[in-house]
Amino acid sequence: MKIAVYGASGFTGGLAAAELGRRGLSPVLVGRDAERLRKAAADAGVAGAEVRVAGLDDPRALAAAFDGCDAVLNAAGPFALWGEPVVRAAIAAGCHYLDTAGEQVYIRHVLDTAGPDAERAGVTVVPAMADDGGPGDLIAHLTARELTTVADLLVVDARRPGAASRGTARSMSAVFDAGPLEYVGGTWRPATGGGSWIAVPGEAEQVSLTPFALPGIVTVPRHVPAGRVRSGIRTEVAELFASLTPDVVDSVPEVLDQEARSTNRWLMLVEAVDDAGRRARGWATGPDAYGLTAVIAVEGARRLVAGGAPAGALTPAQAFDAADFLDALAPHGVTWQIA
Ligand SMILES: NC(=O)c1ccc[n+]([C@@H]2O[C@H](COP(=O)([O-])OP(=O)(O)OC[C@H]3O[C@@H](n4cnc5c(N)ncnc54)[C@H](OP(=O)(O)O)[C@@H]3O)[C@@H](O)[C@H]2O)c1
Repeated sequence: MKIAVYGASGFTGGLAAAELGRRGLSPVLVGRDAERLRKAAADAGVAGAEVRVAGLDDPRALAAAFDGCDAVLNAAGPFALWGEPVVRAAIAAGCHYLDTAGEQVYIRHVLDTAGPDAERAGVTVVPAMADDGGPGDLIAHLTARELTTVADLLVVDARRPGAASRGTARSMSAVFDAGPLEYVGGTWRPATGGGSWIAVPGEAEQVSLTPFALPGIVTVPRHVPAGRVRSGIRTEVAELFASLTPDVVDSVPEVLDQEARSTNRWLMLVEAVDDAGRRARGWATGPDAYGLTAVIAVEGARRLVAGGAPAGALTPAQAFDAADFLDALAPHGVTWQIA
């Protein structure tokens, strides 16, 4: 199985190349700079892996760089700036496509527009296969299944403040600036209402939440017929995102060392309420947000290539069996529960 990693010279792309190597899959490292890609291959423990150079401004070269690959895993963000040419080239090359995007405007654009071309090419496009968008969408699907109707569904990224890469800081600063969204009555609109409080598994005190547009805002309504879908993050984390001026972003380290990664636990929490006020709650959690993002994206790529997902542009829960996918992450320390 041959998987191209676009943006393989970056932090997340390098982790994805390493994960592919660990699984005995063949990574092809693709990006705009041969030297950085070769260094990334060596750092990822796949020094012999193929390196192909293609910038984003040449669609033919980009599609040629994906030629013969089964899937493209895109880790070059911010995706709102750089994502579209990679999606288009992957489809043109007849490859399945996934990415690690957390930017809701971009994710919505891909889900809204890439489907017809992907169907014609017989490939599946799944944006948002990272530690928030992947498990968040999957656990929302499993939680909503507990109710016969869903009046309101809240997706929460309940992780505590922790180290992030410069690429994440740059992307999340843009999401913060775009403002929070909510899904109401079949459409998206700026989120109304302010902060709230929520009980988080494993924590004695309620946690303060601030509305924030997580990927679930655009993915969950595509498979859960909910009246309203909202999302939020811890107020402490929202305050950090609000402080991300361009100078601050440039001062964030490009990569996290092993110690920072080991303390970087993620937790996606979903609460759903039906028309009669009955509640369901579910969560998925795991260690090492960046390492797990690589595992989630690679597992998704492996499943797409193995077959079973329909062609088109799909959310994680539309493309994969939610419980089976989360169970497959157990060896990496991921647990999940519906209460
Ligand atoms: N949602 C989540 O939970 C989650 C988790 C992990 C990552 N992510 C997302 O994944 C993305 C990558 O994060 P990161 O920390 O890995 O970032 P990074 O280390 O800065 O890597 C960015 C990659 O994109 C490439 N790139 C940037 N601009 C480019 C351009 N104009 N043309 C071609 N390639 C370009 C870079 O190539 P060069 O080396 O040539 O500059 C590099 O390979 C971010 O958007 C981040 O938010 C999300």
